[in-house]
Amino acid sequence: MPKTFFITTAIDYTNSPPHIGHAYEKVLADVIARYHRLKGDKVFFLTGVDQHGQKVQQSAAKAGVPPAEFVKEITQKFVDLWKKLDVYYDEWAETTSERHKKVVQGILQRLWDEKDPTTGESHWIYKAKQAGYYSVRQEQFLTDKERGPDGEFGPEWGQIEFREEENYYFRLSQHKDWLLSYIDNRKDAVIPDFRQTELRNAVEKLSGDLCISRPKSRLDWGIELPFDKDFVNYVWFDALTNYISFAGYDPRDGNYAKQPQEFRDRWSKDTLQIIGKDILVPAHGIYWPIMLHALDFPDEAMPQLLVHGWWNLGGAKMSKSAGNIVDPFTLIEKYGADALRYYLLSEIGTGGDADFSEERLVIRYNADLANSVGNLLNRTLTMVAKYQDNRIAFPQGDWLHNPDERSTESYAQHIFKQIGAYKSHMSEGRTLPITFPITFGPFVANAAIGNILAILDQANTLVESAAPWKLAKGLDKVSKVKLNSVLYALSETLRVVAILISPVLPAAAHGIFDQLKWKIELGGKEERFSLADAEWGKLPNGHVVGKPVPLFPRIES
Ligand code: MSP
Repeated sequence: MPKTFFITTAIDYTNSPPHIGHAYEKVLADVIARYHRLKGDKVFFLTGVDQHGQKVQQSAAKAGVPPAEFVKEITQKFVDLWKKLDVYYDEWAETTSERHKKVVQGILQRLWDEKDPTTGESHWIYKAKQAGYYSVRQEQFLTDKERGPDGEFGPEWGQIEFREEENYYFRLSQHKDWLLSYIDNRKDAVIPDFRQTELRNAVEKLSGDLCISRPKSRLDWGIELPFDKDFVNYVWFDALTNYISFAGYDPRDGNYAKQPQEFRDRWSKDTLQIIGKDILVPAHGIYWPIMLHALDFPDEAMPQLLVHGWWNLGGAKMSKSAGNIVDPFTLIEKYGADALRYYLLSEIGTGGDADFSEERLVIRYNADLANSVGNLLNRTLTMVAKYQDNRIAFPQGDWLHNPDERSTESYAQHIFKQIGAYKSHMSEGRTLPITFPITFGPFVANAAIGNILAILDQANTLVESAAPWKLAKGLDKVSKVKLNSVLYALSETLRVVAILISPVLPAAAHGIFDQLKWKIELGGKEERFSLADAEWGKLPNGHVVGKPVPLFPRIES
C-alpha cells in the first residue's frame, strides 16, 4: 500500500481577491503534491478559503452586501485562479460549509464537556472578563508584550480600540511544557531550521490563554458556540479546524484512535502544512498543536510545518490598502500559467523572501523557458526531421566504443552521460530517478529547477560541440553512428527533462511529450509522467517524433 502524503496550505482570507503571494503558496504545495505523485506516493492535497471573521464582515459592509454574498464572490475568484494555474487539489475547504460547522461545534462541545469532577469546570475552556486594547486587524486583545520600544503598538496591528468584554478562553499556557518537549524531540517539526528556533523562543515566552469567542453584539459572522448562543467562535480557532474537518474527522468521537481509518491515514506521520512566515507564531506553531493535543492527537500525528517567505513589491509588503497588489490573473493572461508557476518557484529560495519583478519574470522566461527548454526541443525535432526523416535511431550494438576504452557502453550512452547532472549521478553508479529526490525531497524547488537547467545547458552545448549538421554531411559509418547517437541523446534528454520538470511545468511537460509523440494515449493526464520512467534509454529504435511547435515563444519587450 503506498503511504498517503497529506499536504495542506493556509486557507486564504476572502476579504479581498487573491494576489501573487497567495498564488506562490498554492503553487508550491501543488508542486510538492505533483512531485510525490510522480514518485508513486498517494497524495491528499487540501486547500480552501477562510470565510468568517471581522475582516470579512467589515469588507462586506463596505461593499454594501451581506457577508455570505461577499465571500461567495471572492471565493469564486480563488477557485478560478487555482484552475487557471493548474493547482490541482483533492479537497476544497470552505469554512461556511455545514460540514465544517459541525466539526467546529463538535470539538468545542467536547472540550467544554471534559470537566474536572471536583470543580465541575472544563479542563480546556473557561469564561472570563477582559479589558484592554484590541487590534481590529489581527482580531485579538493586545498586551504590553506587543508594544514596540517606544511604548506604542506598531502599524502591523492596524486600528486599535479599548474594549471590555466577557469571553471564553482556551487554556494554552498549561501545555507549554508539552509543546516544548514535542519541539525538542522532533528536529524537523518546522522547516527551515531557523523557523523552528523562532517558534521555540516564542513558546518559551508563552503565557496566558487564547480567547476563542466574540460576542455576537459586535461580530456575528462566525460559527456559534454550541454552549452559548450569544457568542461566535474566534476566526482562528474556526479556520485551523479546517485541516481536520475536510480530511474526514468525525466529531462524534474525538478520540484519535477511534477516528475513521481514512482520516488516520491522512493524519499520520506524513502530514505537511505549508504556511507563510506571518502565521507560524502563534497560530500554527502554538494554538494549533495545542488544539490537536487537547483532542488526543498523538505526537506522531502532529503536522510538520513548511514555512515559506513572502513576495514583496519594491521591498514593501503587498496589501490592498497600500494599493500595490500584483494581480496573478493579468500575469497568466500575458505569459501563461506555466510561466508564472516557473517564476514564482525559481526566483525564491524556500523559506526566504523575494521581490516581485515582471521584468525578471520575462528575463527568466526568455532565458530558461524559451531558450533552454523551447530551443532544445525545436532544434532537436527539426534535426530529427531533416536528417532522420522524423525517425529516431537507437544506435545498436556497442561496436563503437566511447573514447574511454575501459567501458563497453555505446557511443550514445557515452554522449548522454556528458549531459549535466547525469554525469555525476551516473558516475556514482546511481540513476537519476534515485538521486533526483535528493534535491526535490527537502522542498527546495529552486535547487531542483537549477539541476534541470544544468541538464538542459549541457544538452544545448552538446548541439554546438557535436554539430549534427556537419555529421550529417559525412558519408562514412562512424559519422552516421555519431549523428544517430547525438540526436538520440538529445531526444532522450527532452523526454527525461519533461518528466522531471512536470511538477513545475505541467502544461509544458505535456507539450514536450506530445511533440515527441510519447505516451500519446495518456495525453493531458498526470499519470503520463512517472519518476521510474526517467531512466535512460526508453525511447525505442525507430520511434517517430512529431513536428516542432514553439513551446515558449520568445517575449519581445
Ligand atoms: N486565513 C489565514 C490563514 C488561516 S489558516 C488556518 C490567512 N490568510 S491570508 O489570506 O492572509 O494568507 C494566506 C496565506 O498566504 C498565508 O500563508 C500567508 O502567509 C500567505 N501570504 C499572504 N501574503 C503573502 C505574500 N505576499 N507572499 C507570500 N505568501 C503570502 O492568513
